[in-house]
Amino acid sequence: MTNTAEPSESFQIPLEAAEFYESAFVPAFFTQWADALCDAADVAPGARVLDVACGTGIVARTVADRIGPDGTVVGVDLNDAMLTVARRVRPDIDYRSGDAGSLPVENGAFDVVLSSMALMFFPDRPRALREMARAAAPGGTVALTVPGALDAQAAFGPFVTMATGHAGADAASLLSAYFTCGDLAGLRDLVAAAGLDVTGATVVPGVYRAPSVDAFVTTEVESTPLVERISAEVYDRIRAGAHDVLAPYTAPDGAVAAPFDVNLVTARHP
Ligand SMILES: C[S@@+](CC[C@H](N)C(=O)[O-])C[C@H]1O[C@@H](n2cnc3c(N)ncnc32)[C@H](O)[C@@H]1O
Repeated sequence: MTNTAEPSESFQIPLEAAEFYESAFVPAFFTQWADALCDAADVAPGARVLDVACGTGIVARTVADRIGPDGTVVGVDLNDAMLTVARRVRPDIDYRSGDAGSLPVENGAFDVVLSSMALMFFPDRPRALREMARAAAPGGTVALTVPGALDAQAAFGPFVTMATGHAGADAASLLSAYFTCGDLAGLRDLVAAAGLDVTGATVVPGVYRAPSVDAFVTTEVESTPLVERISAEVYDRIRAGAHDVLAPYTAPDGAVAAPFDVNLVTARHP
């Protein structure tokens, strides 16, 4: 079952890529999922919230704006480059270096435990989910998002097929890793197996927006681990191929609005 497959990717990027992730990838793509996750988890004023694999902190910041002065939010990530950017953007948030498989938090310390677009990178997903359950208070909420199944992604299916055709095995491994938690039923089972009561498991349609196809490809490459894995020649071929596969999602002014489905699961700590 794909959700328990051993992943070989952990989305580690250097500082320059983390800065670009924050300035380009977050507004183009991740912000909408931070909002969807906070809505689904009903993040309310005064809540104590944990953001697992927080990256540059879009979920933690969205939470901070919702919980107000009486709430608390902690972000945890493995990558110090991501945390450096997160702290620069919002120095007031408690960001901690740590592994999802061994979270640096107390038992039951959070009303809400969130993780956006990261579970597919954890080497031991059942363990990470048990850690998220451990961090949640009795009656608390756990909610997460991951990319939906690749074969149902109208724009990304063709894009990934094209890009993996040009890139080497290392790059192909990353592009396929994004979608390894795409099986919604399997994901639901995985969350339940961590001792959580699943309250919702849905596919949420979203959009990946970019001002142009070239900007789309630049973001996909330069704010991800791909930036260190492909040659300039392969980069050019992916850029050229993207103009073809993204043509149905490109407006006359050149702007791209590529549909992207996400699996969103919510659960309650018993
Ligand atoms: C695609 S980014 C998502 C970041 C953020 N949640 C967002 O929505 O922008 C995936 C993140 O997972 C983190 N990550 C990967 N494996 C991890 C692990 N075992 N423990 C903690 N963080 C991890 C990476 O460092 C990266 O910041």
